[in-house]
Amino acid sequence: MIRGTGFAPARAGVMHMPKRTTKPTRLTDVFFRHMVANMRNGVLAIARDGTVVLANDEACRLFGLPATASLVGRAFADVLHQHPEIVRVLGGAFDMAALPNRAELRLKSTDTVIGYTLSLVRDEAGATAGAALFFKDLTHVEQIEERERLRDRLAAVGEMAAVMAHEIKNPLAAIEVVAGLLRRKAPQNDDVQALVKDIISEAKMANAIVQEVLAFVRPVRLQVDRTSLADAVASAVVLADGKATRGRIQVETVLPDGLPPLGADQYQLTQVFANLLINAYEALDGRGRIVISAKLARTAADGALLPDGHQAVDTVVVDVDDDGPGMPAGVAEKIFNPFFTTKAQGSGLGLAIVRKIVDAHEGRIDMSTADGRGTRFRVTLPVEPHKHGTHH
Ligand SMILES: Nc1ncnc2c1ncn2[C@@H]1O[C@H](COP(=O)(O)OP(=O)(O)OP(=O)(O)O)[C@@H](O)[C@H]1O
Ligand SMILES: [Mg+2]
Repeated sequence: MIRGTGFAPARAGVMHMPKRTTKPTRLTDVFFRHMVANMRNGVLAIARDGTVVLANDEACRLFGLPATASLVGRAFADVLHQHPEIVRVLGGAFDMAALPNRAELRLKSTDTVIGYTLSLVRDEAGATAGAALFFKDLTHVEQIEERERLRDRLAAVGEMAAVMAHEIKNPLAAIEVVAGLLRRKAPQNDDVQALVKDIISEAKMANAIVQEVLAFVRPVRLQVDRTSLADAVASAVVLADGKATRGRIQVETVLPDGLPPLGADQYQLTQVFANLLINAYEALDGRGRIVISAKLARTAADGALLPDGHQAVDTVVVDVDDDGPGMPAGVAEKIFNPFFTTKAQGSGLGLAIVRKIVDAHEGRIDMSTADGRGTRFRVTLPVEPHKHGTHH
């Protein structure tokens, strides 16, 4: 509760202002002002009449507001018009019987999740002088939780798939054997020969799918070494060219000089970029442009990873952009799900495997797309992953 601290150029009569005549009070005042300005949480306070009394640096950053001073004295609904969710919370401050404590909301305009607590500011007589919103950016916390949930889901799906694949393998082998016997029983009958040939080729195809599923559900074991991103990308292009039709698609690689080598599994990393390239080839259908670019990020603002939620580590951010058809929202939200595919011949495991490998490297993968205007996959990898564990 900020009671009687007077750390803001508050409007007279709105917040209790200590007398500024004696030295200790002045020191306290300055101290409080610095403390609030430097807080890692956001603080935004309003007076009873709905004008802004205070917004610290973190509040301005989170809400995308200009410098603090120009906000003071303006109506909060006006200042925060970009964030109707916040306006609603603050607007209810003086009427609500119980104020929200440790609540969460999502800022739609920036897609940021914040955790917040709302308190009333009372003067010495106990009268309500204003309200203060304390909040924290939970985006990173949420992302970590979301990845954990996804990992659990993948593990559950994977386990079931592994069991099914094993169960299917035996009858499938039996079908092939029996079909072979049948073929030998009627060597003169062309109709039977043709049908049996079909049975065998379909059984072989089913077997290939089973093998692919088993390869997917097997845990990723990394052979971590000092790995050059440029080498991994170059091998990926060769691999993709061998596996899919490139046609007249241009592939451009723009990597800055001096990227540090990554603590990564070169083979697996190559699979990641090859899968992304193959998808782009398939989306571009013979013509268009793919750009693979990278940068080194050292701060959170620059896109560096925060493994512990606070401290940024050196990170390499790689973008694979294509100018293909993009995808509608209904497709975009499912692409990392195993077995999700929009292709007649697809298994839908490509991106699920990519995600698994990136996870094993303690990195992340994000996708942004505009229907009709191309797609960007962003692979974010720590230069030095901490633990080189096994990922399921
Ligand atoms: N660059 C892209 N442009 C447009 N759509 C894409 C792109 N990359 C992926 N997709 C969409 O995501 C879906 C899932 O991709 P994923 O690689 O997981 O499976 P797939 O390519 O369909 O099959 P597989 O990779 O197993 O052969 C694709 O079917 C496609 O709809
Ligand atoms: Mg694919």
